[in-house]
Amino acid sequence: MANTNIDWNNIGFGYIPTDYNVRCYYRDGKWGEIEVSSSDSINIHMAATALHYGQEIFEGLKAFRGKDGKVRVFRLEANAARIRQSAEGIKMAPVPEDLFRKMVIKAVQLNERFIPPYGSGASLYIRPLEIGLSANIGVKPAQEYLFMIMVTPVGPYFKGGFSTTDVCIMREFDRVAPKGTGRWKVGGNYAASLAAGQKANELGYSAVLYLDPKEKQYIDECGPANFFGIKDGKYITPASDSILPSVTNNSLMQIARDLGIEVECRPVHVDEIATLDEAAECGTAAVASPIGNIVDLDLDKKYVISKDGKPGPVTTKLYNALRAIQLGEAEDKHGWNTIIEL
Ligand code: PLP
Ligand code: COI
Repeated sequence: MANTNIDWNNIGFGYIPTDYNVRCYYRDGKWGEIEVSSSDSINIHMAATALHYGQEIFEGLKAFRGKDGKVRVFRLEANAARIRQSAEGIKMAPVPEDLFRKMVIKAVQLNERFIPPYGSGASLYIRPLEIGLSANIGVKPAQEYLFMIMVTPVGPYFKGGFSTTDVCIMREFDRVAPKGTGRWKVGGNYAASLAAGQKANELGYSAVLYLDPKEKQYIDECGPANFFGIKDGKYITPASDSILPSVTNNSLMQIARDLGIEVECRPVHVDEIATLDEAAECGTAAVASPIGNIVDLDLDKKYVISKDGKPGPVTTKLYNALRAIQLGEAEDKHGWNTIIEL
């Protein structure tokens, strides 16, 4: 059994072993039985399409231990829907919602010891993934797939938790193509972001803020998260075909509307950055991570978003409202949480 001697208040976003993972194979045109494994390895054919042609998709969601002791998984159905879209996007077998749900619940139940305590700021990150298994040397989709879910406790994605970090724009790299795989959660998108991401980190930025790959005129998203800005009290977030439809962004837009904040989801020109009062990266891992400065490395231009280096008031309000729903401190009026029986 894995070690639970964990300093819950100080974990980062890494891999901490847990006890079990769950797996299901797609063979002969159908999904099989859910299998439970205590091994952290998988055995696959060396010619599997996942290894050669990138047939790999994944998801990220979280389970939280609430103030009332209950464990809640946030927006399971939205992630189930998105992994099916990703599967269709790169011609993999879609995982039915019910199978996705059962496997998420099972993975959380089996690893209950690893759900961080309420108040620690940490959560149990749930990482479903699907890979093509068939040995195909010709470039074509696999006939057999493995869908599995691993879980690991995590703290904040960016060091320092809810505090500002800087991001940069660099036009020498694209993460995805204009009509490519950016709208799906495909492993290859992340491989394509590594060089730019590493360069950004070396220069002291938490992430790259990508522009649209066609015209390089509009804001797309960050390497691991969507982008939003606050301008004259409005929530502004890019609409684009080359970004991932973020469940967190969708939730924040709804929370903003619930709080009476106007929401604009539309193309956002890069010049508009100069007019933003606040900005943040949002995602399951990033939650809502406030941005201090946006530096355009090509134009040698620095946009100071947070003058005092602190998270802005609207971002803070939205962050707190989202966390309160996830932790069971506020009413879940949109039915986003799945309560896990333990
Ligand atoms: N954009 C990218 C590229 C991501 O990897 C993620 C993380 O999942 C997001 C956006 C945020 O999506 P979500 O809020 O569904 O986690
Ligand atoms: C998430 O936020 O769940 C992600 O997948 C982002 C990242 C860790 C790649």
